[in-house]
Amino acid sequence: MAESREQFLYDRVYDLVVDQIRAGSLRPGDRLPSLRRMSRQLKVSIATVMQGYTNLEREGFISARPQSGFFVNTGRDKSARLPSATSPRAIARDIKLSAFVLELLRTSRRPGTAPLGPANPSNELLPVRALARIMHRVVTRAPAAAVDYMEPQGYAELRRQIAYRASATGMVVDPRQIIVTNGASEALAVALRSVTRPGDTVAVESPTYFVLLQLIEDLGLKAVEVPADPVNGLNLDALEDIASRFSLAALMCVANFNNPYGSLMPDAAKARLVEIANRRGFRLIEDDIYGDLHFGPYRPRPLMSFDDTGNVVLTSSFSKTLAPGYRVGWLVVDRGREDMLSRKHNASISSASATQMTVAEFLASGAYDRHLRGMRRALKQQVDRMRHELLEVLPEATRISQPQGGFVLWVELPRGVDSIALFNRCLEQGVNILPGAIFSPTRKFKNCIRINCGHPWSETVARGVEKLGALASESAT
Ligand SMILES: Cc1ncc(COP(=O)(O)O)c(C=O)c1O
Repeated sequence: MAESREQFLYDRVYDLVVDQIRAGSLRPGDRLPSLRRMSRQLKVSIATVMQGYTNLEREGFISARPQSGFFVNTGRDKSARLPSATSPRAIARDIKLSAFVLELLRTSRRPGTAPLGPANPSNELLPVRALARIMHRVVTRAPAAAVDYMEPQGYAELRRQIAYRASATGMVVDPRQIIVTNGASEALAVALRSVTRPGDTVAVESPTYFVLLQLIEDLGLKAVEVPADPVNGLNLDALEDIASRFSLAALMCVANFNNPYGSLMPDAAKARLVEIANRRGFRLIEDDIYGDLHFGPYRPRPLMSFDDTGNVVLTSSFSKTLAPGYRVGWLVVDRGREDMLSRKHNASISSASATQMTVAEFLASGAYDRHLRGMRRALKQQVDRMRHELLEVLPEATRISQPQGGFVLWVELPRGVDSIALFNRCLEQGVNILPGAIFSPTRKFKNCIRINCGHPWSETVARGVEKLGALASESAT
């Protein structure tokens, strides 16, 4: 979809300046073009340029100086420093992470803490009232259906809507290929259970979302980590090497805005990954939960859209974009569909009826795309703002990812900072973060943390960032 045409004009001003700052063509202290010049350059009104500059100022990128114009703020020069690429050792390991993660998440669940930990979007960004109205309408209209079991594969109208949306990402999906699940988590569990046997080896990105590691642990599988970088994701030469040395059953991958790295695999790399998996004979399980939350004009394609052999299983959910508590997720599968359906049935019979009916109606109303446009704009600004503020308060050598979608940042603090100790000290002071150790089977990334940017900037968030900065600086000395 050519979203750029629909973008607010002042966002074009905003994006142009941010891109120039990132590319280094605008440096700290540089003066921005005058309102008049920019208005002529972009063929927009002076008021539009003013609005764009005001937003840039609010987000901390630029400052107005009386009688002189707008200037790029200092601190932006640090912004080019991205976290290091990873180079884990190629070893197939048993995983023992779940108890550690559970304890850590339990400890961190404290009301009133600054929400920089779990990757949740703020309720303020979700269509809370519209969904409540729709749910009321659908359960009133069909009260018996709402309390009854749904068919195990999922509500037909919801599957139809999901299949229709998939066509925008370059895929032709038959609603019969879709199985509705309890969130993306159940979709991942069903897919992994179906394509592996205990003792098998599964490849994962390094770093990777901890729930993928917990699933591998749960099923008695082994994990081998594949090197990756924070811009393009998986290192495919390294994967070729790993695939030649290990008999891989599957690779689990978040190609679009990896959690926690934020990386986005380019299309050519996605095509090559699909080719490698087909040639080497392992299944690809892709988690596309962040794909709709792109900051650029186009929605990135899923791995599945590059595959015509049925080797890729796509999993996703509405947890990051609509309602995490509704637990509406899905998988798209061709090869092995009957087996996955049977495993879904064994796991939970079916998914909740009322929430499926509600989401289906929301999608059918056309409101989802409108909602996503606003949410993407808000998240882009939140991520930019958080990154900027963190660079201001964290120790000098800190490196921070620069994702082009999603809403988490991967922060590499100076060597020597113990992020688990930092996590504990932050919690004592009312700030929630996640330590890097939970994103690897070997609990490495000891000096890294993951930061959630799902909440609009507020006093609580600002205080959290300030405290994190002070505590991290203490730890670094
Ligand atoms: C990459 C990724 N996959 C899956 C999930 C979980 O999704 P759900 O709540 O739909 O089970 C998350 C949530 O943080 C995630 O970041």
